[in-house]
Amino acid sequence: MSKNILEYATVELDEEGPSLSIIDQTLLPGKTAILKLTKLEDIWEAIYKLRVRGAPAIGVAAAIGMYVHSLSLKEEEPSLFFKKYMEASEYLNSSRPTAVNLSWALKRMEEKVKDYYSLHNSPSLQELLPILKNEALLIKEEDSNICKSLGEYGITLIKEGYGILTHCNAGSLATSKYGTATAPMYLAKERGMDLRVYCDETRPLLQGARLTSYELSSAGLDVTLLCDNMVSSIMKSGSINAVFVGCDRVAANGDVANKIGTSLVALAAKHYNIPFYVFAPSSTIDLNTKSGNDIPIEQRPPEEVTQLWYKEAMAPEDIKVYNPAFDITDNALITAIVTDKGIVYPPYELNLQKILKA
Ligand code: MRU
Repeated sequence: MSKNILEYATVELDEEGPSLSIIDQTLLPGKTAILKLTKLEDIWEAIYKLRVRGAPAIGVAAAIGMYVHSLSLKEEEPSLFFKKYMEASEYLNSSRPTAVNLSWALKRMEEKVKDYYSLHNSPSLQELLPILKNEALLIKEEDSNICKSLGEYGITLIKEGYGILTHCNAGSLATSKYGTATAPMYLAKERGMDLRVYCDETRPLLQGARLTSYELSSAGLDVTLLCDNMVSSIMKSGSINAVFVGCDRVAANGDVANKIGTSLVALAAKHYNIPFYVFAPSSTIDLNTKSGNDIPIEQRPPEEVTQLWYKEAMAPEDIKVYNPAFDITDNALITAIVTDKGIVYPPYELNLQKILKA
């Protein structure tokens, strides 16, 4: 019998090799292929091409990736190692700009290197490498614990028989385990609650269709897939009681960057008076970014809109294409932000600071 997709680790350190091991998500749901990456360029490519994707999973992959890369530098002079490590970290950080988890995880790893060098006059890479390994594994472990807490807070927002709409994939495939917006859904299933989950297909890369509907239905949840332009229609029908989405960055004022189309869902939810909840691990909250206007939005190639997934091009050759990967949902459209430390209600400027500093 073939293995359930949820039995595979989305991202992990394979000690044999050692390598960064990921599920190649570009091939799901048709094919489950595990990639073992050791070269920095391949890790960069895997993040850029969304072979590994979702804000928390990108952070974990970058941390493990930097550990794996540092092993390839272990014969270097310690002073040269430092320089090459920092250059490699900057390079990996350039793979995707919006999810703050990438720079957050890389910074955590860099701090370990800097701290070690500042404390030792004659640094030894034999001593430093296990420190980097521990930090990468800690980032991964923390991520699944954070998702568990998000699940516990999130389930308090659900009632028996609820219909929940989600956009993109903020699931197990986007994190170390459980997902962020999906964690309460998995928990509800475990606790025998009946739910209906509605997944937006999520054009153009189809994370909702290919990933969310796949992982949730593999776990036995009641899942219905819909195209993005059907959101208003399903909301009007009365089937949706709440919207649960993940995010790539939360600014200090509570504006949220998430997969393109999220803001449209939030606008429709406001119209139909449906609560709109954003699930945000602490690693995704960026108090250094003032508002959504300051979040860099990744622009992706036109072919993702005109050709990808189609047998032949579905638009005139050379047509101009607008393809931002994320959009900003204004804080005014968000009912609450569910964090691993508690549920944050407006005013976000004040309450996000309070909860992060608690
Ligand atoms: O481009 P992707 O697939 O990396 O975008 C992912 C999303 O937008 C998710 O909703 C977000 O990263 C949260 S994942 C817990």
